[in-house]
Amino acid sequence: MAAYNIAVISGDGIGVEIVREARRALDAAAAKEGFSLKYNEFLMGGAAIDAVGVPLPDETLEGAKNADAVLFGAIGGTKWDNLPRHLRPESGLLALRKGLDAFANLRPVQVFDALIDASTLKADVVRGVDLLVVRELVGGIYFGEPKGREGGKAFNTMVYTEREVERIAHIAFKAALKRRRKVCSVDKANVLDVSQLWRETVSRVAQEYPTVELSHMYVDNAAMQLVRAPKQFDVIVTGNLFGDILSDEASMISGSIGLLPSSSQGVRGGIFEPIHGSAPDIAGQGIANPLATILSAAMLCEHALGEIGAARRIENAVRTALEQGYRTPDIASYGAVKRCSTEEMGAVVVKLINESK
Ligand code: IPM
Ligand code: MG
Repeated sequence: MAAYNIAVISGDGIGVEIVREARRALDAAAAKEGFSLKYNEFLMGGAAIDAVGVPLPDETLEGAKNADAVLFGAIGGTKWDNLPRHLRPESGLLALRKGLDAFANLRPVQVFDALIDASTLKADVVRGVDLLVVRELVGGIYFGEPKGREGGKAFNTMVYTEREVERIAHIAFKAALKRRRKVCSVDKANVLDVSQLWRETVSRVAQEYPTVELSHMYVDNAAMQLVRAPKQFDVIVTGNLFGDILSDEASMISGSIGLLPSSSQGVRGGIFEPIHGSAPDIAGQGIANPLATILSAAMLCEHALGEIGAARRIENAVRTALEQGYRTPDIASYGAVKRCSTEEMGAVVVKLINESK
């Protein structure tokens, strides 16, 4: 029987609640498919700052490196907002991504038919949307040097090397080959040198994928097109900051940021996390939507473990739960629904996985 090691980082805020449900879904899918999972829990973010004084303890990075995959919840909270930047919870996550060289962040945006009316956009606009944001995750302005503050001035540097752009472009084109064979590269090449290099490099890599259609779009236009006509997109490839912003925007096509999973592939394994944050305002109330994390667990099975059957069981269970009307509060104000808590939603998903053929 295959056995996998999963590093679990619940983090802060709703992290603990949503990761708990994702683990239950993973266990149910593993039992069905006949593999086993061993979880090792590690601290990161505010929880780590409180316990040991740093946002990413060495032990956590080591544990993540030695695992087959990392399942992560969310980090951050007002309690730690006033710390210097390198000691903030977010720095822990950035250092983890960097430490694992998890450069390829995949953020699929799908619209569940049952939730068409949950989107703030018109049904006709969102029905059938199926796009993938491929976000470069360990470069760009998030990590560029120099950065810092000097007197009344502060600065960050947006920097990309050809090599960094090439490797994320290959990920995007390969993903497109398995989809509708369209890549839209998003940049700001009318203003930024770094975007000119980005554009040239993506165009060069495109020559290796003659069956994939490449287009380029400025990020401001892309932000507008995403709400105007999201169906035009198949794969969007972009840098770290633009990808961060556009993926939050794109999540509202699906109805709630509580629905969007992500995978960040690196040297091995990868990090699997919802795209949303730690939502301190609702932490501990048992009302957070666990589906983004549960769907991230499905991505973990597929991308890190190669357990496609388990991934499909989890995804199908989520779809069915929504079709049956189960709704956490973030998606509950639409139509006749069965309002449920974080735990109840998790339980429904587990039950559906257990019943799956
Ligand atoms: C995300 C988050 C992170 C990011 C934060 C928490 C550092 O917004 O995963 O999208 O900016 O990458
Ligand atoms: Mg973000």
